[in-house]
Amino acid sequence: METSSISRRILLFLIAFQLSCQCIQCVVTYDGKAIVINGRRRILISGSIHYPRSTPEMWEDIIMKAKDGGLDVIETYVFWNVHEPAPGVYDFEGRYDLVRFLKTVQNAGLYAHLRIGPYVCAEWNFGGLPVWLKYIPGISFRTDNEPFKWAMKRFTEKIVKLMKSENLYESQGGPIILSQIENEYGSLDTRYGAFGHNYITWAAEMAVGLRTGVPWTMCKQDDAPDPIINTCNGFYCDAFTPNKPYKPKIWTEAWTGWFTEFGGPSYRRPVQDIAFAVARFIQKGGSFVNYYMYHGGTNFGRTAGGPFVTTSYDYDAPIDEYGLIRQPKYGHLAELHKAIKQCEPGLVASDPIIVSLGPRQQAHVFYSKLGHCSAFLSNYDTNNGSRVMFNQRHHNLPAWSISILPDCLNMVFNTAKIGVQSTRLTMLRANSQMFSWETFSEDLTTSDVDSAFTSFSLLDQVNVTRDSSDYLWYTTTIDVAPTESFLYNGEHPRLLVESSGHALHVFINGKLCGSIFGTREDRRISYREKIRLLSGRNKIALLSVAMGLSNIGGHYESWETGVLGPVVLYGLDHGKLDLTHTKWSYRIGLKGEAMNVVSTNRMPSSVEWVQGSLITQNNQPLTWHKAYFNEPDGEEPLALDMSSMGKGQVWVNGQSIGRYWTAYATGNCQQCHYTGSYRPFKCQVGCGRPTQRWYHVPRSWLKPTGNLLVLFEELGGDPTGILLAKRSMTSVCADVVEYHPNIKNWRNETYGQTQVFHSPRIHLQCSPGLLISSIKFASFGTPVGSCGSFQQGTCHAPTSYDVISKRCIGEDRCAVAISNTNFGQDPCPNTLKRLSVEAVCTPTSTGQG
Ligand SMILES: *[C@@H]1O[C@H](CO)[C@@H](O)[C@H](O)[C@H]1NC(C)=O
Ligand SMILES: *[C@@H]1O[C@H](CO)[C@@H](O)[C@H](O)[C@H]1NC(C)=O
Ligand SMILES: *[C@@H]1O[C@H](CO)[C@@H](O)[C@H](O)[C@H]1NC(C)=O
Repeated sequence: METSSISRRILLFLIAFQLSCQCIQCVVTYDGKAIVINGRRRILISGSIHYPRSTPEMWEDIIMKAKDGGLDVIETYVFWNVHEPAPGVYDFEGRYDLVRFLKTVQNAGLYAHLRIGPYVCAEWNFGGLPVWLKYIPGISFRTDNEPFKWAMKRFTEKIVKLMKSENLYESQGGPIILSQIENEYGSLDTRYGAFGHNYITWAAEMAVGLRTGVPWTMCKQDDAPDPIINTCNGFYCDAFTPNKPYKPKIWTEAWTGWFTEFGGPSYRRPVQDIAFAVARFIQKGGSFVNYYMYHGGTNFGRTAGGPFVTTSYDYDAPIDEYGLIRQPKYGHLAELHKAIKQCEPGLVASDPIIVSLGPRQQAHVFYSKLGHCSAFLSNYDTNNGSRVMFNQRHHNLPAWSISILPDCLNMVFNTAKIGVQSTRLTMLRANSQMFSWETFSEDLTTSDVDSAFTSFSLLDQVNVTRDSSDYLWYTTTIDVAPTESFLYNGEHPRLLVESSGHALHVFINGKLCGSIFGTREDRRISYREKIRLLSGRNKIALLSVAMGLSNIGGHYESWETGVLGPVVLYGLDHGKLDLTHTKWSYRIGLKGEAMNVVSTNRMPSSVEWVQGSLITQNNQPLTWHKAYFNEPDGEEPLALDMSSMGKGQVWVNGQSIGRYWTAYATGNCQQCHYTGSYRPFKCQVGCGRPTQRWYHVPRSWLKPTGNLLVLFEELGGDPTGILLAKRSMTSVCADVVEYHPNIKNWRNETYGQTQVFHSPRIHLQCSPGLLISSIKFASFGTPVGSCGSFQQGTCHAPTSYDVISKRCIGEDRCAVAISNTNFGQDPCPNTLKRLSVEAVCTPTSTGQG
């Protein structure tokens, strides 16, 4: 008995030992080539999707689209300030349900890269750090400082424990294969000297000590201590090498576009250039690419960083703000991913053999373990295409492009040749009216009784509000003697107000006299205007507005915002009057905020809403407006057109849609070409129009009828101009160039008589349930422009429209080859032609009435 029980125990022990051995195998590791999962080196394509920037109802759809786009990994930051709104008070509900998000990723069969930070930058309020941290005595941000390190460790541990308790690490059978600690610290590191070095060493040890079973990364951190992998962020990362030969080459942020700020244009990054950048990275031995962003989404509420980052965080990403596929960006990258995956055995097995094919042309050749050959042929010339000879075949490489040949013979993909269609998404007015308008004015005649407190100095806004509101009132009074000359000669005194940002509205005796706004780059603003004062007591009320706390940099403890002075009145009989140290009354936030007028709970409110018929004061500043609307039918994403309004915030059914501001974009919106190194200033759009006109209203926040819209308007506007719109795919476009005559000959030359020569074709396809109802544009010749704005060029085949209509109208999809025979005859011999088509998709007829 005794012995058998012992041997049973030994057996059990052996089984347990074996199990744990298997578990060690499923730990994610890395080597100089790649991340190694279950013993296999992998080429991994990843995309950033930030869970709080969409709704849980949207997550599955977005993640499935990412999977269909060829992604293996979903990357997200973890946003400390939404998870811990007050010390020790946690929130993981709704949009902040990180576990649900990661389980959605897992259910889709994808991996996750969890960038804990917990400093995240991300154009997110305060870089993701809680504002309350700033008021921990002795704190100094992101450096060798005990209070900061203590708080950072506590939160990082909290997240790792949560992940472990839900079995979310790959070592536990979960999706997380990588994790990041700190974020883009390298530039501060050097400035902070020993403090920076000690801090990053501590952060590395702290993270590794949490034993997650998966590797940690640090981005933009050249001296990342082992075993942490240092990684690259940027528009191009092919020149990057990790700090040790045994670390893989990882690109944590391949920027697909850029964020927008109020008053600026929107930025586009041509997909040919991103595809080129990614192919360059892979051919140089890169094995992990993460698109930042793959879906940008929306900065709901007051989560936008800044200052002045817009509510839209669309980022020109492959999936747009609303969760819709952006073509051709999405489809072209999906084709790239397929081509790269076909080369994976060679990419993970060997270093490239580099062959020169010309002055700016190269081949990178890889061999798999079994000897299969894959090649990337590159042309770095920014102006000229090139015809190169590789493996006894000719290949035509457009300027600034890479061709991928998974078998070293056949080109399956070229970064500059877009084969997929583009789609045009437009905002169509929805059949839903706002009704029952009512307004309510923020009372400007407030007495001091309403103020929180008074002080004989000008105080840092964030210290006073603790970011509980964007708004802080600084109010004071001055007594004007009846003898002051300006009362008689009209030489009004001049008021100077110096502020550290971000925006300021100046009210004299209850009237708005002016507003000033900073920019993201220059937050300091000053107001210098003549003001009309009366004999006796005058009230000066300064409404300082925060527009998202800065998300970049270190030493947040020293940053200040708001009216810090000086405040001086010039032009009085005895000269100037310095008001900086006079008695100031402070009031945090708006009355409407205090009374929670945005709530759907119909409390017997103390707010005196005034019926819509009484709206005579549309253009009044500091006014709350409310109305109701019914949900428009259909499935399309919805948005509010706020262009009739000035600046403020808007809520639907108590949920904050975000800050709005009809600021007009200044920039340089010239034509943009994909070749040459990309920088955001290259491809700007939207100049002269509001930077952001449309504000996403998630469908899941609506009920069929009686949805409550509330907005607070700072400046004045016409709320009856607010419209609901549906984001709709109204047309699809294709734009394909015919093969250069030379190429046709090469083809026969290289592939021999047995190869069938395929002319390039255009492919058009409507969304499910839609059919092509008309052809808006068709030209075989030399048309110009892009989807939505095509125009005929000097050469145009007169049959173009008829040929395309015949093939496509009434179909859900169609394909037409570009050949002279298809269009009757060659409209302009010896000219390189293209075929551009825009087709309109409309819902399938619902049949008999
Ligand atoms: C490249 O293009 C430029 C500008 O179009 C042209 O001037 C130049 O001659 C071309 N070079 C070659 C080698 O074709
Ligand atoms: C916040 O304000 C209080 C009161 O004026 C002051 O004592 C404190 O130093 C301020 N803290 C910071 C971090 O600015
Ligand atoms: C290519 O070869 C095919 C088949 O022999 C022939 O019909 C065609 O005319 C050739 N095309 C060109 C451009 O030479």
